Amino acid sequence: MNYKIALIKGDGIGPEVVNEAVGVMEAVGKKFGHTFEFVDVLLGGCATDAVGKSYPDGTAEKCKACDAVLLGAVGGPKWGSDKPAEQRPETALLAIRKDLGLYANLRPAALRPAMADACPLKKETAEKGIDLMMVRELTGGIYFGKRDKYQTEDRGLEATDLMAYSEKEIERIGRRAFELARLRRKKVSSVDKANVLETSRLWRSVMHRLAEEYSDVQYEDVLVDNCAMQLVRDPGQFDVVVTENMFGDILSDEASMVTGSIGLLPSASIGDTAPGLYEPIHGSAPDIAGQDKANPIATILSVAMMFRYSFQRAEEANAIEAAVDAVLAEGWRTPDIAEPGVKSIGTKEMGRLIREHI
Ligand code: IPM
Ligand code: MG
Repeated sequence: MNYKIALIKGDGIGPEVVNEAVGVMEAVGKKFGHTFEFVDVLLGGCATDAVGKSYPDGTAEKCKACDAVLLGAVGGPKWGSDKPAEQRPETALLAIRKDLGLYANLRPAALRPAMADACPLKKETAEKGIDLMMVRELTGGIYFGKRDKYQTEDRGLEATDLMAYSEKEIERIGRRAFELARLRRKKVSSVDKANVLETSRLWRSVMHRLAEEYSDVQYEDVLVDNCAMQLVRDPGQFDVVVTENMFGDILSDEASMVTGSIGLLPSASIGDTAPGLYEPIHGSAPDIAGQDKANPIATILSVAMMFRYSFQRAEEANAIEAAVDAVLAEGWRTPDIAEPGVKSIGTKEMGRLIREHI
């Protein structure tokens, strides 16, 4: 096959980790007989610097002309919250998610066998294994509701962010979660705050309807505060965790740390039509940018997700994951996952070793 891939390298360590992931793709192409056409797409702080806005006109169209999108990371202190919205990298990230219809964000958090020691939880807890899939709703809720800031007469300035969810939005993300659970350990934990929020009560009623329809899948409701606690108490209990946008943002960072490092975790954002967008869940780490210190594994594993979910090529995905596991098992570590005092390797060397194993 020939695949056309949009590359959004972005800011900070983005370009470095994307370059290694591209190298891995090419190695996979050689082994399995695929070719790639890469299209650079400008988005994020680098776009603000180049053309004055973080989401240049035509960005979504360029991506839509491709089979999939690979994104490094966007953001940095240079384009902070004091800047106008159209110059901020986060605005661009939300816009591309919305414009490509990427309502389902899959964030697997698994403790890789060679990394069991990196789990900060009790040894008995880590030994039970951690392998969960966070399914985060990505184009609705408080991230996209109406915002306002206005002067009041007696309370100074006041600000509001509206959280809204429709049955349709909840049902489509719910279906994704149940379908994924069927391919895994057949359990869905739906996370909400139904003891307080109306959006959560609607969320829960739609999920219950789906749970009846997918009666072969075990289902439970979990309140978000309890979920935060259970993730550090006994993460092995979770298979598929489905939740709304902001809860998912917070819980997926927590879940990632439980597996050792945010530098290892990939993500896939998908909708009903191509292209899907694949990116590491970590940020742009401006403090180590350009120093060959970043861990490229999360981006490389995002490429594995691309093969699995956008191209339905499980064999290629498995080959990438096996190569990563093999390199970790040999003891190679980038600084973020190295034991203190142990020699680590750089971004490029990690990429090269993974390519070699493919
Ligand atoms: C993420 C990030 C983004 C989000 C930010 C950068 C807007 O934290 O992908 O989790 O909140 O969705
Ligand atoms: Mg986040």
